[in-house]
This record gives sequence, C-alpha cells and structure tokens, in this order.
Amino acid sequence: MNTFTNRYDFQRSLGTELTPNWRDLAKPVPPTLTQESSPNLGTARIAPQRYTSYEFHRQEVEKVWKRTWQVVCREEEVPKPGDHFVYDVAGLSFLVVRQDDDTFKGFWNVCLHRGRRLCDASGHGATQFKCGYHAWTWKPDGRLAFFPGE
Ligand code: FES
Repeated sequence: MNTFTNRYDFQRSLGTELTPNWRDLAKPVPPTLTQESSPNLGTARIAPQRYTSYEFHRQEVEKVWKRTWQVVCREEEVPKPGDHFVYDVAGLSFLVVRQDDDTFKGFWNVCLHRGRRLCDASGHGATQFKCGYHAWTWKPDGRLAFFPGE
C-alpha cells in the first residue's frame, strides 16, 4: 500500500497532476535570502522632501542603487545563448546576456563609442548588439566586433 506525504505525491500517483509544477522546478532558496533584518529605524517623522527632493534622489541613486545588488531577471527568462534582458532602474540601464557557455555577463547598457543606449529591449538569440547611432557593433561577451572604417 502506498503512503503519501502530500497531495502532490497522491496526484502524481493517479497521473492527474499537471506537470511540471513549480514545486518540481524550484531550486532551494539561498540562506541569505531567508534571513530577516529589521533594524529599529525609530518613529520620527520623515520629511516630505525625502520624496520630492531631486538632490535626495540623486544621493539615493549614488549611495543605494549603484551600490546594492539587484535582482535583474530569472534564468528562465534568458534560457539560451544570446538571450538578453534589459534592466532599467533609477535612470540607469543594464544589459544581462546569457553566454555560449551558459554563464551570464552584465554590462552597462551603453555604447562605449559615444554613450548611446545600446539595446532598447530584452530579446532572444542575439549574435551581436549594434548601436543605432554610428553602428559600432558588440559581441554578446562585450568585445567590439565591428566599427565603421575598420
Ligand atoms: S554612440 Fe554608439 S556607435 Fe557611436
């Protein structure tokens, strides 16, 4: 006689479960993501300028957004080499690209020639990133592939 520890095992035994489900696909959560940190920040009122001041925003970008790790996307969103994800935050833009060896590389999403935004949208299967300004072209690993007059 079978004993089932949860309904998923039971459904699986009947062949009625829709598979795969998230429980089958999920990876263990890293311990650092399960730790709670709740420092006492006091009860003082926060000045409204915190939400309206350009200078405060500028400092927040410099001291927080540029210095903290960001969750850009899930691996499943860029499953194959050349798949890429554009991540915009606080006026900054980053480009994450899956490499041929299944690693990931992240770049500032700007052309190194004159600083135009390099990639406007996330996509799949890119073999190169061509700047729309002067056509300098970059390989998915970040190396320069071509520039006019080469
Ligand atoms: S700014 Fe990209 S090619 Fe000139």
